[in-house]
Parts: sequence; structure tokens; C-alpha cells
Amino acid sequence: MLTILAKSIEGKPISLTLQSPESITINNDQLTLLPGLIDPHVHFRTPGHEYKEDWRTAAHAAIRGGYTTVFDMPNTLPPTVTALLLQEKKALIDSQLQEIGIPLRYQLFFGADKKHLNEISSVARDVIGIKVFMGCSTGNLVIDDDESLEAVFEIGAKNNLIVAVHAEDEHLLRQNKAHYKNKLDYPAHSEIRNITAAVTAVEKAINLSRKYGTKLYVLHVSSAPEIQLIKKAKQEGLNVYAETTPHHLFLNDSAYAKLHGKAVVNPPLRSSEHQAALFNAIHEKIIDTIGSDHAPHTLSEKAKPYGECPSGMPGIETTLALLLNAHHEGLLSLTEIVSLTSTRAREIFSLPETNDFVLVDLNKTAEVSESQLKTKCGWSPYAGKMLKGWPVYTILGGKCYSI
Ligand code: DOR
Ligand code: ZN
Repeated sequence: MLTILAKSIEGKPISLTLQSPESITINNDQLTLLPGLIDPHVHFRTPGHEYKEDWRTAAHAAIRGGYTTVFDMPNTLPPTVTALLLQEKKALIDSQLQEIGIPLRYQLFFGADKKHLNEISSVARDVIGIKVFMGCSTGNLVIDDDESLEAVFEIGAKNNLIVAVHAEDEHLLRQNKAHYKNKLDYPAHSEIRNITAAVTAVEKAINLSRKYGTKLYVLHVSSAPEIQLIKKAKQEGLNVYAETTPHHLFLNDSAYAKLHGKAVVNPPLRSSEHQAALFNAIHEKIIDTIGSDHAPHTLSEKAKPYGECPSGMPGIETTLALLLNAHHEGLLSLTEIVSLTSTRAREIFSLPETNDFVLVDLNKTAEVSESQLKTKCGWSPYAGKMLKGWPVYTILGGKCYSI
């Protein structure tokens, strides 16, 4: 039996008894009980890039961050674009999780690939959705022609599969890069991958969602104009949902000066007014979820000059603490945090209820310390940042993990 005596997000006493192989009582009215977090957007790198991360290190990182469920992306090596590759990936993940004894709940996105669109219907019941890279990012998955994009939305609708889009228009990205006149350094990333490229892709995806009746999940929304389009789509009654990331909420393009290549991410960091627009969009329920977009790369990769430095940053261990810290700053309510990190993802992706929880100490103040990170990449863009509000126990499948 696992017995928990803590408080609810409203500050009321809460007591809970769960089936458990262990006999544990946590009795601490300083701790607040939240549902176990769902991260709808991670890159755990298996197969093929295990030198950056694997599910052994990533599962420890997830637990440390308060997460009990993750949705993994298909841009691995090889990418997850056939039924066989999906099966092989699952087997690898299961064996890595078994090795460490953490039954992390996971779902996989299937990669849309021009040459393998016919595979999608055969995996419909085994995946959480179809991931479409409308612009190239890490790896070489991309759908850059309208005919294939239309086909994906049509297949998604037929199979009742959500289509999750990385919305940056590949043609605009290429054009911007070709015409870029200034010095090609890290901050150029935000100019080349500009907001117009994101907006163009979001608009196209919304139009296809309307045309085929496809459920659309817009990943990592980063700018005010994208929010406006999504707001209109929701008002129109379309099945359009939006995610943002911790880095688009808590970092902006001034971060290049300090973080250099570590700040390079797709879509790129924007200027500070877009951060404010994202917080507003959360209050207005235009943004539904927060995905960490945990995308680890090694320190030596991130130290490479612009052009060779891969895009992406780790995030799963720090997202909840950043959100709780923002709560103390008056930027988010605890109800909004629960909605962003579990309730909405469960609703949008029709996940069954679980008995997973995270206990947070709203008054714990600690610095983000790279030496304590579990992610294999070993760094954080928030290193040294003092945050108030941290997870202290994660409860997954009846087992309590002390953080
Ligand atoms: O910055 C990013 N990194 N954006 C992506 O779309 C992919 C990710 C990665 O896998 O590294
Ligand atoms: Zn991603």
C-alpha cells in the first residue's frame, strides 16, 4: 500500500491510498499533489542516436521531472516510417526500460514519409499520431510537397489519427537561407527560420484540417501570429490543438549572447513580445499543452559553428520547475499548469486515466544544477537559474520514486 497525505492545488488536505508492491506512507502537508505529467513531445533518440540519449537515461530524467507518460518523435536513425521499424523501436525501448526497472508509459508518433505513406493505415492502432515535418529539422524527415501533405491529412482523417505538425515551410526556409546577407552566426537562425515560415505552414495545415476533417495538433507554437490563426480555427470549431514549449515561454532571442549554439532550436527562439503572447494564449485556452521538446545533443555538437551545430535542447527535467516558478511570479495558475501538463493531453489524445502522480514542494528553492541532471547530454539552457517549486516524488504504477 502507498498512502499519501498531502494537499490539493486548492490547498485542501488530500489523502490517497494506492495499490503498491511497497509499503510507504508520505505524510507531508507541505507537498502538493498533481497528476503525473504527460510530455506529448520528446526525442529520446532510440534507435541510432543513443550517444545523445537513450531510454535508460531519459526515463530517469522523466521521473526526475515529474513525468510518467511521454510521446516520442520519429526522427531517429532510422526514422520510424514503417510498421517494421515501429515494432523494432518498441522492442528496443521495452528492453531499455526493463533493464532499469522503470515502467515509463510511452506512446510513439509515426513519421510521415513520402515513400511510405501506405504504411500509415497499418499502424493506426499502434501509434499516438502522425508526425509531419513541414520543414527540415534534425534528421531528414520532411514533407515539402502539397500532394503528399494532402495525402497525409486524408489518411489521418480516414484512420482517425491526429496529425502533429512541425509547422515551418521548407520552401521559405530554403529561400531565406539562400538570400541571407548578414553574418551566418547563431542569431541568424531566428532570422532565417522566421515567423513567416511558421505562419505559412500553420495556415496550410489548418486549411487541410478543415478540408479533410483531420484532427490537427500544432507542435511548438512560438509566435503571436500563429496564435491568431489557431484562435480563429478554434472559433470556427475545427479540431485544432496547440502546444508550446518551455523554451519558447522562458527564453527569447537575447539568449544567443550567453548560450551561443545551445540556444539554437527549431522553431527558433523569438523576441520577448512573443513570450508574452504565449502566456496570454494559455490564459485564453488557445494553447492546450506544453511539450518539453526534449531534444538532447552533446555539448561538443552544440559547440560547433552555426550551420553544423544541431538544433534542439533538453527540457524534460526542468519544465515543471520552470512552470511552478512562473506560478510564483504570477504568470500561471496551478490549474493552468495541471491543464497544460496533463489534463489537455489526456483529452486530446484520448489517454486512459492512471493513478500516476507527482508531489511538488512549492516552496523548495534550488538552482538548476547540471551535475544533478539525468539526461545523457548533461547540460541545460537553464543552468544556474534559481527556481522556486520543484517535484520531490513521482508516483508511477504504484511505485514511488524519490527525486
Ligand atoms: O530543435 C529541434 N530539435 N527541433 C526539431 O524539430 C527536432 C529536434 C531534434 O530532434 O533534435
Ligand atoms: Zn521536436
